[in-house]
Amino acid sequence: MASNVSELTTYMAYLEGEWKKSSSGETIAIQSPYLRQTIGYVQAVTQDEVDDAITAAHNAQKEWAGLSLSARGEYLDRWADELVKNSEEIAQAIMQEVGKGFKDAQKEVVRTADLIRYTVQEALHMHGESLRGDGFPGGDQKKIGIVERAPLGVVLAIAPFNYPVNLAASKIAPALMVGNAVIFKPATQGSISGIKMIEALDKTGLPKGLLSLTTGRGSVIGDYLVEHKGINMISFTGGSSTGRHLSKQTTMIPLVLELGGKDPAIVCDDADLDVAVSSIMNGAFSYSGQRCTAIKRVLVNERVADELVSRLKAKVEKLTVGSPEVDSTIVPLIDDKSADFVQGLIDDALAKNATLVTGNKRENNLIYPTLLDNVTEDMDVAWIEPFGPVLPVIRVKSDDEAIEIANKSEFGLQASVFTQDIDRALAVARQVEAGTVQINGRTERGPDHFPFLGVKASGMGVQGIHHSLLSMSRERVTVLNLK
Ligand code: G3H
Repeated sequence: MASNVSELTTYMAYLEGEWKKSSSGETIAIQSPYLRQTIGYVQAVTQDEVDDAITAAHNAQKEWAGLSLSARGEYLDRWADELVKNSEEIAQAIMQEVGKGFKDAQKEVVRTADLIRYTVQEALHMHGESLRGDGFPGGDQKKIGIVERAPLGVVLAIAPFNYPVNLAASKIAPALMVGNAVIFKPATQGSISGIKMIEALDKTGLPKGLLSLTTGRGSVIGDYLVEHKGINMISFTGGSSTGRHLSKQTTMIPLVLELGGKDPAIVCDDADLDVAVSSIMNGAFSYSGQRCTAIKRVLVNERVADELVSRLKAKVEKLTVGSPEVDSTIVPLIDDKSADFVQGLIDDALAKNATLVTGNKRENNLIYPTLLDNVTEDMDVAWIEPFGPVLPVIRVKSDDEAIEIANKSEFGLQASVFTQDIDRALAVARQVEAGTVQINGRTERGPDHFPFLGVKASGMGVQGIHHSLLSMSRERVTVLNLK
């Protein structure tokens, strides 16, 4: 599956069930964010190869959809087993390629295996419905509607760098389980992890052509894939600007988008500050804040702001900073451009008189955790998603003001509210425009069987295992007209 070139591996693309070199003769160098060097090469797949992969996918899909649910599930269960068996190697790839701490990378692989197994079980336990014609005024009792789920055809799964295995499998597994074929396009940084994950799938003996993995340049195959007439559904996780672009490019095909966020932690004046501090720390800084669901701003009642900020400061200064190989919480960002972007947000806030509580130190793409207080609405960091370890604190006078600032954001992924009064928590939760509001907990996608969605610029459609099975299939209605 791989060949050595100058001690580095050149990975093959997985096209039509074979590991192949691209006919382009070109490869893409994959950089490690913390080793700051090339760690391998992946194939730069061509548009012709995309065409062939999609044709093969359609051919294989017909037979696949004819298999029983349990037969499809057996392949997926074997995939989960293979992932667990190879979890060390896959976690190593994730760590090197996207700079995620090794233990977190291992957790990602195990979480993925659990997700796949749950997807199988969920699909096995989903059932259709039947309707009586005479349920409608003037209806005929001899008419019976049978509603089942049917696959859509070929699903394009586009995964981000930050969960190169989990957020790929959370699209691939439901797509396959409901009878689709898949074209999988990993993020460039994330391709090697994606390849390792598909090597595990390939070991299950999956029918040839049912899934192809197209690594390549976005400029060559990105738009081409998305606009391809052979694609019947797209599931994308990534930035909001790309999501917007996708929704303009596609016509008349279902699209599920998981995009950016600016998740607020609303801290009321009666909050248990121990709970708030530990949730905010974990929510804001794990994996250097490179999570769509990271806490990206704190809206704290001014009566408890000094106390909260001083407790956060103490914790931020204890965060481990350095290498993912020793499981540091703060690791180098995915690339230098991302670090420049985060630094720009910090610089802008400080120029506009935010208070630097701690941080604002940088070594290449390693940004030290930075806590900013007295952030005001004229500062970019109040609104823009950094995808890095900077946490702005905005002081508010009331819950209403917190809700107003929370909702002024273009994003609406998740939010947290910290209070010991459940009525107050629910009142805030019901007014915040977000897919999910966490009461006294950090913002996060899991557990993976919960519905997961963003509103406004944070997404379209719903994920989570059950909803992904629904969005990757359609109703098939058959009507019995009895004599
Ligand atoms: O980055 C986007 C992910 O969906 C976040 O997942 O909340 O499990 O870290 P997570």
